[in-house]
Amino acid sequence: MESFSAYTNQLGEFAGKVLLSPAGSYNTHEIQSSLFSARQLELHLRSLIPISELRDAGSFFTGDDLADEAVGLLPNSIARSSIVVDPACGAGNLLIACSRKLPVNKSSLRKTLSDWGQCLFGLDLFEEFVETTKLRLILEAVSRGVRPDLSDLNDAKGLLPHIQEGDAFENEDVLKCATHVIVNPPYYKMPAGSSCEWAVGKINAAAKFMQHIADYTRPGTSVSAILPDVLRSGSRYEKWRGLIAEKLKCTIFPSGRFDQKTDVDVFLLSAVVENSIDTPNWLGLGPVETCVGDFFEISIGPVVPYRDKQDGEAVPYIHPKNLTVWDEICDREITETWKYSGALKQPPFVAIRRTSSPSDTFRAAGTLVIGKQMIAAENHLIIARPKSGSIDDCRKLLRMLRNPDTNNFLNQRIRCRHLTVSAVREIPWVGGDVF
Ligand SMILES: C[S@@+](CC[C@H](N)C(=O)[O-])C[C@H]1O[C@@H](n2cnc3c(N)ncnc32)[C@H](O)[C@@H]1O
Repeated sequence: MESFSAYTNQLGEFAGKVLLSPAGSYNTHEIQSSLFSARQLELHLRSLIPISELRDAGSFFTGDDLADEAVGLLPNSIARSSIVVDPACGAGNLLIACSRKLPVNKSSLRKTLSDWGQCLFGLDLFEEFVETTKLRLILEAVSRGVRPDLSDLNDAKGLLPHIQEGDAFENEDVLKCATHVIVNPPYYKMPAGSSCEWAVGKINAAAKFMQHIADYTRPGTSVSAILPDVLRSGSRYEKWRGLIAEKLKCTIFPSGRFDQKTDVDVFLLSAVVENSIDTPNWLGLGPVETCVGDFFEISIGPVVPYRDKQDGEAVPYIHPKNLTVWDEICDREITETWKYSGALKQPPFVAIRRTSSPSDTFRAAGTLVIGKQMIAAENHLIIARPKSGSIDDCRKLLRMLRNPDTNNFLNQRIRCRHLTVSAVREIPWVGGDVF
């Protein structure tokens, strides 16, 4: 992140000038539209740091509207006596949104920052981000009409002592004293670690952050978090959801795409730390009478072309590129073959594309496959086989998948870019004469 210091230095020069100028020299608009703004910050971040590095560090900063929404979802409001912690503060977007709930002393920047400095706590792995957070909080105070009665920028930064460089996983004390925790954690993959009770291998860092917060905060702490949708809807995170719900009394708000440039869907979690027996409605769905899983066996196509050795008998082979969406295809018309000794699929069935985004016209796009021969299905397909063995039931399913209600259901149920077996199983079955 060193290259980011080009921005931090420029921002420091600007903040230094603001402090040395007579009170009122810079109005709110001038400061808010300067380098200080979330927009300028984002532009500089992306131009100075390669996207791969941003991804590895999980450094995607929250836009103003989402930051305000997250602050609004803190169950208890922020007051002067609060201790507000952002354990992954980045360049301070969430802490700045929180500071807007704190009063200012118009006649004194020193007094205002001293008060804010006792309320606002932040950690980040990168020194450049920590420095930027402090500069932006100083500018935020001046933009609210506070008289700069400090001319030395270092003195001003020294009034924000609890915004520090550090690893959230090694600084749990800060969580123990929090009254409020607000967080948009990194979403990179990290090892679950031997102490993880709910997963092995790699997990999303956001899940580990939330578990850490749940483990170390005191009862009564207000929590607001911006989290990747996979934690809300992915089967891999089911146990994690159970553990979080035991410690936090949560309300869940599906949100949508993080921002225009970051293709990941998020949700907001608002919670109070308390032992809870309630299960939050993670999926935001009402009860359904019957669902696709009652009539179809749902499975993932098992063929992984880059991994599987072709060591069996040659059989017709399907994958998303040789199937036409909403079409019907007979085994004899499938020209590609795969030598496969693994599990084959017996038609009739509906092959549904796994790759799926909320921006697609159809979230679950299917093709009916009929015939007598066993079929090898690739891993980017979900196979829905009717328990009845009936082609008519497959046709009903295809019609249902095209129905806007199915799209609406899936957009609520799973916003990640891949459908899961459980999401398809849970699609409400309308069936019958409706189609
Ligand atoms: C998604 S960004 C959010 C930043 C800021 N809170 C916001 O909403 O704009 C996550 C931040 O977490 C920081 N981070 C990653 N791992 C961390 C860790 N173990 N401890 C503290 N900060 C970490 C990254 O440097 C990054 O700035």
